[in-house]
Amino acid sequence: MNDALLETLATRRSVKPDRLQAPAPSGEELDRILTIAARVPDHKKLVPWRFMVFEGDARAAAGEIFVEACKAEENEPSPIRLETERTRLMRAPLVVAVVSRVSKRPGAPEWEQILSAGAAAFSLCLAANAMGYGTAWLTEWVAYSPLVRAKLGLAENERIVGFIHIGTPKEKPEERERPNLADIVTRWQP
Ligand SMILES: Cc1cc2nc3c(=O)[nH]c(=O)nc-3n(C[C@H](O)[C@H](O)[C@H](O)COP(=O)(O)O)c2cc1C
Repeated sequence: MNDALLETLATRRSVKPDRLQAPAPSGEELDRILTIAARVPDHKKLVPWRFMVFEGDARAAAGEIFVEACKAEENEPSPIRLETERTRLMRAPLVVAVVSRVSKRPGAPEWEQILSAGAAAFSLCLAANAMGYGTAWLTEWVAYSPLVRAKLGLAENERIVGFIHIGTPKEKPEERERPNLADIVTRWQP
């Protein structure tokens, strides 16, 4: 019985991005996290996901893209709003965008490829959590903005699964209500 793993799974909680501070995982730790994330079930070995790392100044550069997209796609955003966009990826010391990339392949429907990408995102979170880092899996509006998509270099067949914010939690997050098993589990009978 792997009690440490079970404890990580049983107690995991997301940490809000502005509650994440330095240090972020080191380069070596991040490689380990991404290697684990790339080990998810993947029907037909299509590797239907990839990772885009935002660290250091790249977070600010992405913020400028968000500002541009916000100005183009929204009606007269306020200066405060634009500042929020400029600093959106700077709330946490490290952000990894998980990108789903689907291809046409008999026997591996698009749905399964997207599920695999979701699994990669969650494995990424869990690996970071097991190292003691907090994570927040966020999409926010930026994951769906056509202009942000284009500027980040996403192809037609690609979608952002989430921006995984990673860092050291400032404090332990509060517990969150979970569903009762009785409400979500049935025992199928013929
Ligand atoms: C695909 C996906 C996108 C999400 N995007 C957001 C988001 O944009 N903003 C947000 O507050 N939470 C978002 N969440 C929810 C958080 O990641 C988190 O699950 C939630 O706050 C509950 O915390 P918990 O993970 O501790 O249960 C998203 C979750 C998923 C699966």
